[in-house]
Amino acid sequence: MNYCVVGLQWGDEGKGKVVDILAEHSDIVVRYNGGANAGHTVIVGDSRFALHLLPSGSVRPNTTCVIASGVVVDPDVLIKGIETLAQNDISLNGRLLISENAHVVLDYHKKEDQLREETLGKNKLGTTVRGIGPCYADKVGRSYTVRMADLRDLENLKAKLQTIIEYKNKIFAALYNAEPIRADETFEKCKSYADRLLPFIADTTEFLHKSIAEGKCVLFEGAQGSLLDLDHGTFPFVTSSNSSALGMSAGCGVPAERVDEFIGVVKAYTTRVGAGPFPTEQDNETGQYIRDKGNEYGTTTGRPRRCGWFDAVAVSYGITIGAIDSVALMHLDTLSGLRELKICRAYEINGQEKTFFPANTARLSKASPIYETVPGWDEDITEVNDFQDLPVNAQNYIRRIEEQLGKAITIIGVGPKRSQTIFRQ
Ligand code: GDP
Ligand code: IMO
Ligand code: MG
Repeated sequence: MNYCVVGLQWGDEGKGKVVDILAEHSDIVVRYNGGANAGHTVIVGDSRFALHLLPSGSVRPNTTCVIASGVVVDPDVLIKGIETLAQNDISLNGRLLISENAHVVLDYHKKEDQLREETLGKNKLGTTVRGIGPCYADKVGRSYTVRMADLRDLENLKAKLQTIIEYKNKIFAALYNAEPIRADETFEKCKSYADRLLPFIADTTEFLHKSIAEGKCVLFEGAQGSLLDLDHGTFPFVTSSNSSALGMSAGCGVPAERVDEFIGVVKAYTTRVGAGPFPTEQDNETGQYIRDKGNEYGTTTGRPRRCGWFDAVAVSYGITIGAIDSVALMHLDTLSGLRELKICRAYEINGQEKTFFPANTARLSKASPIYETVPGWDEDITEVNDFQDLPVNAQNYIRRIEEQLGKAITIIGVGPKRSQTIFRQ
């Protein structure tokens, strides 16, 4: 079986945990979009790993890991990730493939991201400042780019960087009155990236197609979530890749038909980091309760996450555009202790009831959630491993969400550890 795991909200749904669990029965795990803006948490025994570029399957020593061409690779972060695993006796030698066509995030991308956010002031997007937007912008612009394959030809790369950095410095000076960056320093860094990463650079599209033809089990790991999708999310408060399920095929060159099951991951409530509309946000005691209990602080930036009720309109949208087959609902344990819970079943916009999510930010900003209220539960459920043993109100909450989404919830998270997971047929 080939699976694809994607977030159906605004990221941080718990994809890392789900991918880690499914990776036990996968030969290959593939990251296909985004970059080091992602932070996927995997807990193995007493060790906690925050993976930014390496697929979440990388903690399993027999899994082959692929970073496909749709990813923008920050070599500093990647090398650090490889070293962190090595310090934990997990080697990636011989089992990591990085696409030769993946674009490289360099220091000037991060600088540009930061300067742009600072200049926007109160209108900033709230990016992770990992250089994601500027790197994808260069990729689409085509003229000033570095791809992983360029690390194979340092002579040529040196000349290329000269041109790129001359151009970037003009922008830094004219738009931001900022200090120039030095081409020779960037080149020296690229030389060290080449030393470290050349053995991993490959044609990942060929590898994936051969592996699928041989009957290998491939697990595709999405980063971010459907509502952050560049084309289909809450633009401009999105990331710069197609982070809904639609991005999977473009990101790795494997058609969606090769995937047997698309699994959408959601939290039992909603969170968002960064700016943008969030209809069910609870900027109050309830939101604070969820933030404290769920430890809702960003894996990549440490920022407090905005928290709110489960939004079935928003999640249904990701299911529809991505043809999601089943749902994993994480963080159910975080809701224990709330007297009642709300599920947003529709929006009211300009006096009309809507159940199809309006991704257009101007319209979404006018949406008032229409809630259904259900009773909560008090019990600690972090040790429950059978659906029937959950408090009746927790079972009913899940069934109600299933009805709203029209999809089965087959995986339920009751804590961050692997063992704190309920599987249902
Ligand atoms: P990702 O970006 O989708 O992989 O999610 P993150 O790793 O950024 O954030 C999810 C956080 O929730 C991590 O700290 C996980 O360890 C934690 N987590 C995952 N599933 C559960 C769950 O079911 N319950 C609780 N309490 N924590 C969970
Ligand atoms: P994972 O894979 C949550 C958000 C940022 C910001 C917007 C644009 O861990 O779920 P960017 O740096 O991509 O230009 O920022 O997207 N964002 C995420 N939010 N989880 C993520 O990844 C995110 N990656 C980007 O907070 O609002
Ligand atoms: Mg995350």
